[in-house]
Amino acid sequence: MRRCFLEYYVCSVWGFVVFSYQLSVISYQFSVISFPFSRRGVLHTPNYQFSIFNFQFSITNYQLSIRIMADLDDLREGANFGLGVASREQNFHVKGAGNLGWGMKDRLSRIFSPQTGRTVMLAFDHGFIMGPTSGVERVDLNILPLATYADCLMCTRGILQTIIPPVFNKPVCLRSDAGTTILTQLNDNVLMDIEDAIRLNVSAMALMLSIGEPENEAKTVANLFKAADLGSRYGIPIMGVTAVGKDMARDARYFGLASRVCAENGANIVKTYYCDGFEKVVAACPVPIVIAGGKKLPENEALELCYNAINEGAAGVDMGRNVFQSSSPTAMIQAIHAVVHEGLTPQQGYELFNDLA
Ligand code: 5RP
Repeated sequence: MRRCFLEYYVCSVWGFVVFSYQLSVISYQFSVISFPFSRRGVLHTPNYQFSIFNFQFSITNYQLSIRIMADLDDLREGANFGLGVASREQNFHVKGAGNLGWGMKDRLSRIFSPQTGRTVMLAFDHGFIMGPTSGVERVDLNILPLATYADCLMCTRGILQTIIPPVFNKPVCLRSDAGTTILTQLNDNVLMDIEDAIRLNVSAMALMLSIGEPENEAKTVANLFKAADLGSRYGIPIMGVTAVGKDMARDARYFGLASRVCAENGANIVKTYYCDGFEKVVAACPVPIVIAGGKKLPENEALELCYNAINEGAAGVDMGRNVFQSSSPTAMIQAIHAVVHEGLTPQQGYELFNDLA
């Protein structure tokens, strides 16, 4: 009993001594480090910091905060460095885009399939110059069911914001210029503000070039040039669309010149028309070419047009009327998709169309 009392007594005294010593050390540090002092009439309060195990205690302005410090004990040493294995080089699948930045490439990859390098864009921007022409009277009824089968949607911001559900998650090539309509002189256009394209999270901006048309050539080239400046600043690819000048021959010489002008002025994609000698147009254009469909053709001819264009080097199609004015638009876009991505012949594509229609 006596022994226990003695032990208890000794322990308590020792504990008290140790505790008092620590308290005095802490108080001393506290007063030395952060003695309250007044400067220009402002009372500065003490600051003190100490750690126990993985907890860091800070007293600032009479408030105590406790922080858990990084646990360095369990930091695992890296062991799998693949020594002797060369790092993987990436070849980018879009023509002329190898030297572009990550944002540009990411957007281009949303448009052009990394598996095939190709794209099926669905164009339904016609209303901005033609109004509610056949097939786009009701975009919600006629176009939305087709969107699932397209790799990319090409439309104006008005249609995008009012009708296309943002949950679709399809890349958008935004019609980004506007001006005159079919009722007056076409293509006297201005470029829209790129901030709106960024807000709409578009994957590319498209604008028209009137090559060979004295009234609007300079203005539309200047629009493209400016768009390319802005696009490269924000990582948004630009698509130049070659509108055929009134007096221009629709031949390889004209489309070759117009496509090349687009690329030289900074377009990352060119949309033009298929023609005889199309390989030369493609060969001389350092960025991918997609073809417009033009006016409505019988389905087998439209599929043949797609096939020939792809066979001669096009990276895809950006078609409108030949899809949404078809007797079966859903079947048509699937048949085009198979010709572009799976290499179906026009005959096979047409069979597919008939099966699905
Ligand atoms: C016009 C366009 C249109 O979107 C495009 O020409 C439409 O495609 P299609 O000719 O196949 O109807 O860019 O400037």
